[in-house]
Amino acid sequence: MRNVACLSDFSSEDLEWSDPLDSIVVTGGRQLHGSVAASGAKNAALPILFASLLADGRHTFERVPILRDIDSTDQLLEALGCRVAREGTTVVVDVASPRDKVAPYDLVRKMRASILCLGPLLTRYGEARVSLPGGCAIGSRPIDLHVETMRKLGADIDIEEGYVIARAKRLVGDRILFEKVTVGGTENALMAAVLAQGTTVIENAAKEPEVVDLARYLKKMGARIEGEGRSIITIEGVDELQPARHAIVPDRIEAGTLLIAGAITGGRVTVEDCIPEHLEALTDKMQECGFPIETKATSVTVGEAAQWHGTDISTSPYPGFPTDLQAQFMALMTQARGSSVVTEGIFENRFMHVQELVRLGADITPMTQVAVVRGKRGGLSAAPVMATDLRASASLVLAGLVAAGETEVNRIYHLDRGYERLEEKLASLGADIRRVN
Ligand code: EPZ
Repeated sequence: MRNVACLSDFSSEDLEWSDPLDSIVVTGGRQLHGSVAASGAKNAALPILFASLLADGRHTFERVPILRDIDSTDQLLEALGCRVAREGTTVVVDVASPRDKVAPYDLVRKMRASILCLGPLLTRYGEARVSLPGGCAIGSRPIDLHVETMRKLGADIDIEEGYVIARAKRLVGDRILFEKVTVGGTENALMAAVLAQGTTVIENAAKEPEVVDLARYLKKMGARIEGEGRSIITIEGVDELQPARHAIVPDRIEAGTLLIAGAITGGRVTVEDCIPEHLEALTDKMQECGFPIETKATSVTVGEAAQWHGTDISTSPYPGFPTDLQAQFMALMTQARGSSVVTEGIFENRFMHVQELVRLGADITPMTQVAVVRGKRGGLSAAPVMATDLRASASLVLAGLVAAGETEVNRIYHLDRGYERLEEKLASLGADIRRVN
């Protein structure tokens, strides 16, 4: 009996995107060749869309990927009184003071990143009610660092009936030292501080390119920020911001996934419209394994490798190896000569893809934060597998590209959260892949 989600798991909006019975069927054995363009980064577009709440008027965003999570964000912005219009990959958000400042559970449960409306609502309107997100497949993913940040900036915070209730006459700048690097926490702190009174210094800040892109947009709106991309970010609060226009930074995780797709099939693939520097942790490791890598100003090419050997990775905050490419890289290591030790240093449960890869014949021994992969070229054979989270689903598609026979990846609504038409992009490179219902 195929494992499928029961329909009651989904609200009507979910079904607009992809039927929970949708699967992707990929027939292994084709080498991928050619060029494909990266889309805008989901994890930059999400905080930047929420940043529009910081200023009334018309915000214009280009290169916004067409994804479920972006749709969820659009729905939340509309629930907060904004008007959101999309034409292709351009999204226009018209912001007017929201009727109420509530991010309801039925929207937040679909997307944890909804917590990113807390900082903007609180600093702009002095109040916010945001549903607690609940856990997710890759770990508990608490929001304590977000809440502590708002308290440090002077907010009164209560947790009532599953909601974070935050109030503050006006936030007051302060020193925020994060005990661990948090991308979302840094982004919420940035968005709260730009309209706070006085100076805020964020220490142990996340350096991810998506955080830098958010800071870039905030500065276009008139915010006064220094140090984005480094561990210490200083913000001078201002009284008012203006709407602006911004093109979202290319998605380094999608770009890395597409490079691994080329590599795992022994083909030659160029990913265009990307920023090679943002991919260095991955491309350095691929070169270590024996893949030829060529970079130009806005493209990266992985060349053909008849054989490659295993290597160890340990995920860590940028510029370290990204946790969002761990599952995809593990699929690549199942085909390497020799063993690889994969250490997940960010999330406590991000090996959900391991058992599914094992169903395809991979030889992987998972422990708590470490998995040992014993590579064997051609060792995978098709089987029905189930996606559990966004990047795990990508990993299963990549494995399907080299598994003998037809691999069916179920529950690919996870994939649609973070990849824009992945099956079409892979098919354009020569993959035998299709979406079936
Ligand atoms: C962002 O999540 C990304 N999501 C994730 O991408 C990415 O995996 C993660 O950063 C790490 O790079 C978006 O940007 C929308 P964190 P975020 O706060 O901000 C703990 C994908 O596949 N923590 O940097 O939620 C947390 O549990 C997604 O696109 C706390 O303990 O990640 C984790 O162990 C998956 N308390 C660590 O910090 C908090 O208040 C890093 O999390 C917040 C986080």
